[in-house]
Amino acid sequence: MAKEKVLVTSALPYANGKIHLGHLSGAYLPADIYVRYKRLKGDDVLYICGSDEHGVPITVTADKEKISPTEVIDRFHEANKKAFEKFGMSFDIYSRTSIPIHHSTAQEFFKCFYDQGLLVEKKTMQFYDEKVNKFLPDRYVEGTCPKCGNEEARSDECERCGSLYDPTELKNPKSKMTGETPVWKETSHWYFPLGRFQERLEKYVSEMDEKYKWKDNVLQYCRGWFNDVLKDRAITRDLDWGVKVPLDDVQNKVLYVWFEAVLGYISATKELSEKRGESELWKKYWQDEQTKYIAFIGKDNVVFHTIIFPAILMAWNDVNQNKFCLPQNVPANEFLNFEGKKFSKSRGWGIDVDEFLELFPSDTLRYTLGANLPEGKDTDFYWKEFQSRTNGELADILGNFVNRTFTFAHKHFEGTVPARGTLAKIDEEMLEQLKAAPVKVSELLERYKIKDAIFEMMNLARAGNKYFNDSEPWKSSKANKEQCATTINICLNIIYTLAEIFEPVIPFASAKIFEMLNAKQTDWLNSGETNLAEGRKLNEPQILFTKLEDKVIEEQVNKLPQVEEAPKEVSEEITIDEFKRIKLRVGKITAAENVKKSDKLLKLQIDLGTEQRQLVAGIAKSYSPEELIGKKILMVANLKPAKLFGVESQGMVLALDTTEEGIVKLIEIDESIELGKTAK
Ligand code: 2FM
Ligand code: ZN
Repeated sequence: MAKEKVLVTSALPYANGKIHLGHLSGAYLPADIYVRYKRLKGDDVLYICGSDEHGVPITVTADKEKISPTEVIDRFHEANKKAFEKFGMSFDIYSRTSIPIHHSTAQEFFKCFYDQGLLVEKKTMQFYDEKVNKFLPDRYVEGTCPKCGNEEARSDECERCGSLYDPTELKNPKSKMTGETPVWKETSHWYFPLGRFQERLEKYVSEMDEKYKWKDNVLQYCRGWFNDVLKDRAITRDLDWGVKVPLDDVQNKVLYVWFEAVLGYISATKELSEKRGESELWKKYWQDEQTKYIAFIGKDNVVFHTIIFPAILMAWNDVNQNKFCLPQNVPANEFLNFEGKKFSKSRGWGIDVDEFLELFPSDTLRYTLGANLPEGKDTDFYWKEFQSRTNGELADILGNFVNRTFTFAHKHFEGTVPARGTLAKIDEEMLEQLKAAPVKVSELLERYKIKDAIFEMMNLARAGNKYFNDSEPWKSSKANKEQCATTINICLNIIYTLAEIFEPVIPFASAKIFEMLNAKQTDWLNSGETNLAEGRKLNEPQILFTKLEDKVIEEQVNKLPQVEEAPKEVSEEITIDEFKRIKLRVGKITAAENVKKSDKLLKLQIDLGTEQRQLVAGIAKSYSPEELIGKKILMVANLKPAKLFGVESQGMVLALDTTEEGIVKLIEIDESIELGKTAK
C-alpha cells in the first residue's frame, strides 16, 4: 500500500495551567494513538504540538500572582512538556508561541492580508483605564448587574441572575486592574472578513466530509455556524502581551490570540525544521497537496479549526504561490468529566497529569482513558473504573495471558519458542482470528474510532486466554508434547501481535513484551502473522501490570473535596397567589438563530398553539440552533417584553443549570402534551 504523508497537530494548550486528564482525552491521547499507529504502518508522519502562550488568561494569571506573563508561560510550558513526556506523547516537537519564528510567521500572514486589502478597519468603543492608559478586555471589567444588582457582575454577563446585556448597560463599572472607573474610548481594530469565505468554507467542509467522513458532532457545529451569515472577526486587540501588529504606526496592539495560535502549528514545524537542520522540511508537509493533515482538538475548538484556520489558509493561498494544505479531518472529541463533574481547578475537582503519574504508571492511564474516550458524547473518569480496567483487563486479561504463556514456555520448552506441529481445528481458528485482529484494529483507527479499536485489541488478548484454556497445554504437556508445543507457539505469536497492535495505546508495556520476546518491534504489516522463529530464545517474564488494591483507590476517592451544595439563596417566600401570577405554558420551538453580535443569545420562535412568540434566550453555548427545532419547552408566558441586543423577547424559556459552567438544559415537555397548556 502506498505510504501516506501525514501531518498531525494537537491543539496547543494554554501555558496557563497544568494539563489534566480531561485535556488528555480531548486532543492528545487520541492523536498520539493515531500517530503511533501510522508510524508503525510505515507512513511518513510528523506530529506537532506546543504551548499557546498569549491571550488574556495568561495576563490575568500573571496579574493575580504579581509576576510577569513570561514567568507564567515558562513555568507551565516546562511543566506541561514534562508531563506529556512522562505520559508517552510522541510529538516530533513541543514548541511554543512565544518564540520569534512564531511571531514572524503570524505577522507575515497578517501583513499578507493587510497588503492585499483584505482586512477591514473598524472603529469601536471600549472600556479604558486612564490610570494605566490601557484598554480593558471584557474580563478586566466588573460592575453592578443592571438586572439584579449583583455587584460582581462581568462586563456583559451576570453569573448570579444569568442576564446578558450590552457592556454599556453595566452599572458602576470598575477596572479590575486598578479599581478605577473606566471611561469609554474609541479604538479601532482590523477585522477578517470571514463572510467572504463562507461559500468556499461550506464547500470545503462538505467535500471533506464526503471524501473522508467527518464526525457528526463536528459537522453539527459547522452547520450551526453556516446557518448564519459568518461575521467579520476582529483579529487585533489592545494589549501589550502577544504578537505585535506589524504596522509602523500602530502601537500597543497585538494579534488576537486565536488568529495567531492556529498559525503556531506552522511555526512549530518551522522550528522543527531548524532543529533538524533541514530548513525546507516544513514546506514538505504544509505545502504539499498530497499531505493528509489531521487536526486533533476538543469540541470547544471546532470553529477555529474548521472555519477560522481554513479561511486564513484560503486567504493566504489566494495570493501566494506556495499554498498550504487545509485540515483533511478534524476529529474533535467531546469532554471528559471527572467523577460526574466538570474539571475545576478552583474547586479542586480533578487531577493533573503530573500528579497522577507520580502515583500510577502511564500505560494504565492511557488504557483507561483510551477505552472511554469522549468520541461521541461526554464521558467520565471514575477512580473505580480506573481500578477495574487496570485489574480486570490489563492485569487479568492481557497481563495474565502473557505471563502464563511465558511461564509455560520457560517451564516446558527451556525458554524458547517451540516448533509448531500439525494444526488442529482450534489452532487454525485461532490463527484466523489472529490474522483478522490487526486488520479490524487498523480499519477502526483509520476512522478515528479509537475506543472501538482498543476494544478489539483487548479482544485478541481475550481470545488468546480462551484458546490457552481450551487447548489445555497443562494436559498436553504430558500426553502430547507436539500439540502442547503448537499451542505455546501460537500463544507466543499472539503475544507478538498484541505487543505490536497495543503499542499505540500502552507503549511502555509493549516495549517490555518485545524485550521478553527477545524481538524487535517490526511494523504493523507483520502483525497477525506468525513471525517468531522456532527455537528463538525468550527472556524472563516481567510483571506487566500490578493490580490496584481497594485501599489505594479509596484513598484517591477520599481526597476528592466534599462537594457542598451551593449555598441556597435566601429568598423571600411567596404566596400561592403570587406564584399563580406566573403563567407557565407549553410551546414548541419552530425556528432558532443566533442573535447578531452575541455569542450567548439565540432568537427563538415559539408556537403556543394559539399564538406565536419570539424569545431571546441565553442558550447559544448549550444548543446549536438546529438542534432546538421541534423541542417542546416550558416558558414564562406573561413576562414583560424586553429587548436584548436590540431583539424583542416576549417571555422566557425555563432551563436548568448543569455541572458545566455556562451550560444549561432546557426543561423539555413530553410530546403528548398539547401546545399552550398551562403548568400548575
Ligand atoms: O483551548 C485551548 O487550550 C487553546 N489554547 C487551543 C489552541 S489550538 C490552536 F489554535 F493552537
Ligand atoms: Zn444579575
